[in-house]
Amino acid sequence: MRKYSDSELKAFGLIPGRIPKHIAIVMDGNGRWATAKGLPRGAGHRAGVNALRDIIRFTSDIGAEALTIYAFSTENRKRPKDEIGILCGLLIEYFNREIDELHANGVRIKSIGDLSWFPTAVQETVRAAEVKTANNPGLKLNIALNYGGRAELVRAMRLSFRETGEPDEDTISKYLYTADSGDVDLLIRTGGDERVSNFLLWQIAYAELYFTDVKWPDFTREELIRALQDFAGRERRFGGLKSDGAK
Ligand code: FPP
Repeated sequence: MRKYSDSELKAFGLIPGRIPKHIAIVMDGNGRWATAKGLPRGAGHRAGVNALRDIIRFTSDIGAEALTIYAFSTENRKRPKDEIGILCGLLIEYFNREIDELHANGVRIKSIGDLSWFPTAVQETVRAAEVKTANNPGLKLNIALNYGGRAELVRAMRLSFRETGEPDEDTISKYLYTADSGDVDLLIRTGGDERVSNFLLWQIAYAELYFTDVKWPDFTREELIRALQDFAGRERRFGGLKSDGAK
């Protein structure tokens, strides 16, 4: 489903064959972006949704297989009710506006986390998007909604223990929400903080981490290209030695 040819990837400064299969993003900094401009925090979230549009499209077009985005953490439930209301409204608006284009581009949407906490309208909108795109062959777009990494692990361990009294890494991996997307290759966090915040704890075991001060609404495809170039230059050993055997 990749749209760009090798020469087009090179024109972007990217290296074909060095595109991460699974990219995960903590989209942080919406509130501070808005406050710095004298705008309400909701305006930052709205700008964040706009930034997301192009990032999803570009991620799909360069041929990454999966993109997992942190839209709402279990901790975000502590935010004021009106900010949660704005985020829920934006989610519904986003799906209503984007679903046809995402579907046409072959994107498969899946929510990860405990959706049942959200108002029925959010649940129905997200479920409808999942059903519509379930058999699509393109980018696997996992949207973390009321998601926590530890809770995901407890759930996976319980389910695998039920299947076999002696779970191993393979059985636990099978019960993760992101089972069909595999391990994360590149984890990006915008907004200046350098922490993982309970996101995809199992899946990032060998991920390359990329932190940037850029706040999420300003994270354009040029910024993503910078992250991808950085990734392409990393030497991934997965705990082993370099392929030539040198240390
Ligand atoms: C972090 O910014 C961002 C969030 C809590 C929400 C991210 C959500 C979106 C980009 C939009 C909704 C998603 C979809 C899929 C439509 P922050 O508020 O923590 O920023 P701050 O650290 O500057 O306060």
